Amino acid sequence: MQMTHQTPRVRLDRGAAGELDAALVVVPAFEGDAFADVPGLAQASGGEALAARDRGAFKGKPYETLALASQGAGWRAPRLILVGAGPAAACTPDVLRRVAITGALAARQQRFRRIAVLLRPGGSVAPGDAAQAVAEGVTIANYDGAALKTADHNPVWLDDVLVAGLGDDAALAAAVDRGVILGEATNQTRALANEPGNRLTPRVFAERGAALASSAGVGVEILDEKRITELRMGLLLSIAQGSEEPPRLLVLRHEPADPVSNIALGLIGKGITFDTGGISIKPAENMDKMKDDMSGGAAVIAAMAAIARLKLPVRCIGVVPMTENMPGGRAIKPGDVVTSAEGKTVEILNTDAEGRLVLGDALWYARQLGATHLVDVATLTGAVVVALGKTTTGLFGRPQAWVDAVLDATRRAGDRTWPMPIFDDYKDLLKSEIADFTNTGGRPGGSITGALFIKEFAGELPWAHLDIAGTAWAEEAKPYQPKGATGVAVRTLIQLAMAAPAWGAVK
Ligand code: BES
Ligand code: MN
Ligand code: ZN
Repeated sequence: MQMTHQTPRVRLDRGAAGELDAALVVVPAFEGDAFADVPGLAQASGGEALAARDRGAFKGKPYETLALASQGAGWRAPRLILVGAGPAAACTPDVLRRVAITGALAARQQRFRRIAVLLRPGGSVAPGDAAQAVAEGVTIANYDGAALKTADHNPVWLDDVLVAGLGDDAALAAAVDRGVILGEATNQTRALANEPGNRLTPRVFAERGAALASSAGVGVEILDEKRITELRMGLLLSIAQGSEEPPRLLVLRHEPADPVSNIALGLIGKGITFDTGGISIKPAENMDKMKDDMSGGAAVIAAMAAIARLKLPVRCIGVVPMTENMPGGRAIKPGDVVTSAEGKTVEILNTDAEGRLVLGDALWYARQLGATHLVDVATLTGAVVVALGKTTTGLFGRPQAWVDAVLDATRRAGDRTWPMPIFDDYKDLLKSEIADFTNTGGRPGGSITGALFIKEFAGELPWAHLDIAGTAWAEEAKPYQPKGATGVAVRTLIQLAMAAPAWGAVK
C-alpha cells in the first residue's frame, strides 16, 4: 500500500511576494480584485490576471482557479495560481483554509512540491487565525485516497510550504505549528475512515488506533471481548455477537501534569467497522459506504493524539467501541431484549440502529472513568441527512451552555454544524411495553430519537452528540474536498479541548 498522507514542512516567510523562493505561489483573489497590494502580479503573464477579470473569465468567485506563468521583472517564482476567495469583506479563516486546500491540490496536480501561499493584508481575519487556517489547508491537501492502486498512480507530495504576507513572529509560528497538527489529525481520520472493512476489522482498528495515539503520548488500553463481557456491556456485545470478528473497546487517556481544573473531557466515537444492518439488513445499493461507520471513532482517536501533541492542559478520556454489525447465525433479532452495562434494558426493534447501542455502553464507561463533560461523535442516522443534507452536522445536547461551547468549537474548526432540538416530548417514541425503552422511534424525527436514546446513558453530565452521518463522506468532489472521507469533527474536538478554560464551569 502506498502512503495516504504526508506532512509538509510549513514555514513563515517574511519576504515580498515577488521574492518568494517557490515553484508556485498561491494567491487568494477577491471579487473585483486589482491586486494593488501585490507588486508585480498585475504585470505577470503579460497582464493576464487583470485581463481575465475584465473579460469575465476569472471573477474571484469562491474556489475558482486561474493558473498563470509569472515570468517577468520583479517576480521570482515561475508560476502562480489565483484562487477565488469571494468578496474581500466576507473572508474568514474558513475561506482561507479552503483557498489553501484548493491551491495546494492544484499545485500537486501540476506536480509542484515547493509552494508558497500569499496572504493579503486587510480584511477581518486576524493574522494568527489566517496562519493556522492556511497551515491546516496545505496539510489537508497532502492526502491521497487511492493508496491501494498498484498501477498508474504516482501522487506528488508537497514538501515545503511558505506562508507569506503575514510577517514572522513566535505567535504566528505557533499558529502555523498548530495548523499542521490540526491538518494531520484530519488526514489521520480520513485514512482510517477510507480503509475498507475487510482490512480495518475491529481488532485492526483497535491496534491502529492504539499505535496512533500512543505515538503521540496518549495512554492506551484495548479491552477485548473477555474484559467487555466482565464489564457486562450487553449493548456492545449484542451487536458483536452477529459477527465472527470479536469486538474491542479502545480507551485513551490524556493526563497532563498540570490540568486546568477538575474537569475531564470525555470523547466517545462510534466505531462500527462495517454496518450491514444486521438481521434488519440494509439494501445492497450504497452498502459499500458503510465501511465509514467508524468515522466518529476515528475522529476521537486522531483528536486525542492531537490534544497530546499540543500538550493541552485539560484531562481527556477517549472511548471507542469497535465492532462489525453482521447478520451471523448468533446475531440479535428484532424483538430481543438486551441489558446495558448500566443495567437499563433495551428492546431491539431494528438491528440496524446499532450505533446508539454500542455508544450507550461506551458513554457509561466514560462516566465510570471520571469524565465530567461528554461529547459523542457518530454516523448515527440517515434521518439527519434528510434534515440537514450532506454538508451540515447535527448537534444535540444539554445544557445549552455546553451545546454553545461545542457549537463555538465547530465554527473555529470549519465543521458546518447546526443545533437540533431534544424536547422530552419525543421520548414517547422510544416507549417499550416490555423493557425500559426501544432502540428506534420510527421515521419521524429519526435523528432526534437517536440522540435521545444516547442521552439515556449520559447520566447527569453535560453531554453533546454530533450526528455526522451526512458529513463524514463526500459523494461529490469539490475544489477543496476530494470524494471520500472528510475527517469531519476531528478539528471540532481539538478546538473544544483548546477552549477548556472557557467551558470548565459548565455544569
Ligand atoms: N450507520 C447508519 C446511519 C447512516 C445512514 C450513516 C446513512 C451514513 C449514511 C446507522 O447505523 C443506521 O443504520 N441507522 C438507521 C437507524 C434506523 C434503523 C432507526 C437509519 O438511519 O436508517
Ligand atoms: Mn445501522
Ligand atoms: Zn451504523
